[in-house]
Parts: sequence; C-alpha cells; structure tokens
Amino acid sequence: MKIAIVYSSVTGNTKTFAEKIKEKINEKDLVYFGKPSKDIKDADTYIVGSWTTKYSASPDILNYLKTLKNKNIIIFQTAGYGDGIGYYDMIFTNIKNSIDDSNKILGHYCCRCKVTNKVEENYINKFLNNSTNTQIKEIKEGFKKHNQNPTEEDINNIQNWIEEILNKKES
Ligand SMILES: Cc1cc2nc3c(=O)[nH]c(=O)nc-3n(C[C@H](O)[C@H](O)[C@H](O)COP(=O)(O)O)c2cc1C
Repeated sequence: MKIAIVYSSVTGNTKTFAEKIKEKINEKDLVYFGKPSKDIKDADTYIVGSWTTKYSASPDILNYLKTLKNKNIIIFQTAGYGDGIGYYDMIFTNIKNSIDDSNKILGHYCCRCKVTNKVEENYINKFLNNSTNTQIKEIKEGFKKHNQNPTEEDINNIQNWIEEILNKKES
C-alpha cells in the first residue's frame, strides 16, 4: 500500500493530527508527508488534512483534492466554530464538491479544536449586534470548552479511526 499524507495547517492543530496519523503508518508504505506540492509521489491512498475556512477545507487543499483521480481518499479536518455531526457533515459536503467522482472517499473525520484569541474575537463580533446575550454566552462557552483541543483523547480517536479504515482496506 502506498500512502501520502498531505495537510495544511496554520496554527498547528491539523499538523498535530497529521503527525500522530503518521506514527500509525508503516514507514515503508509512506511515500509523502507534508503540504500540497507538485512533488507528491504517486500513492493509492491519500490521507488529506485541513483546517476549516469558509466552512470548507483551505484553498490549497481544495485545489490539491481537485487534482486527484481514481484514488482512495481519507479526509481529516479541524474546525473552530462548531461541532457535532450536523456541523461536520456540512463541512464535508462542501469539501466533496472538490473531489472527482472517480475517487473513493474512505472517510471524513472532523474535530473541533482551539482557535486563536483573534479568531474567537472576530467570530464573536459578527454576532454581537444580532444575537441575545444568552446566544453570545453560548458561543463563548463553545470556544472555552474546546480550547484545549486536540486532547490526548482526540488524538487516540483519530489514530484508532485511521487504523480501522486502513485495516478494513487491507482485509
Ligand atoms: C481565517 C480563518 C477562518 C476560519 N474559518 C472557520 C470556519 O469557517 N469554520 C470553522 O469551524 N472554523 C474556522 N476557523 C478555525 C480554524 O479552522 C481552526 O482553529 C483550526 O483548528 C485551525 O487549524 P490549524 O491549527 O491546523 O491551522 C477559521 C480560522 C481562521 C484563522
């Protein structure tokens, strides 16, 4: 099995997951680890990670996904504004628009992670004029609840998830 791990990360959350996923991949199977690049060697399975922007993957990752044809693709993602299956599915639906139908998507994983103070401030400011105090309080609590992520548990979860997918593929 030839595997490439391709990821984009600005503040480190997605990078942490990428590195932890790498630990679970057999060294002889890994043909690439790093940012989207023209130098990525051919693989049969691409594990692609991104931070979330505009409720989708980052532009470099979306552009990279568009180049893949007839491959197995596993997507992992970190988000900062929301969590829960509905939110993660919405992001996945947006990303799928950049994936050619000839590919096989083996899974999508999303984890809400910490954001920088600036990102939190900008996001809250958008809601200040049109939301109640209770709604603003809930938004702030959401950021607080996730400001230690990715935790060890998040990392274990993603490692188990990857192992399960790859084992299923091999059997
Ligand atoms: C410019 C910008 C836009 C963002 N847009 C979103 C978004 O649309 N939805 C979301 O859930 N998180 C959004 N975030 C939060 C990041 O996706 C989140 O913090 C992510 O974990 C960062 O990953 P990284 O540490 O690998 O860069 C945004 C962050 C920045 C800086």
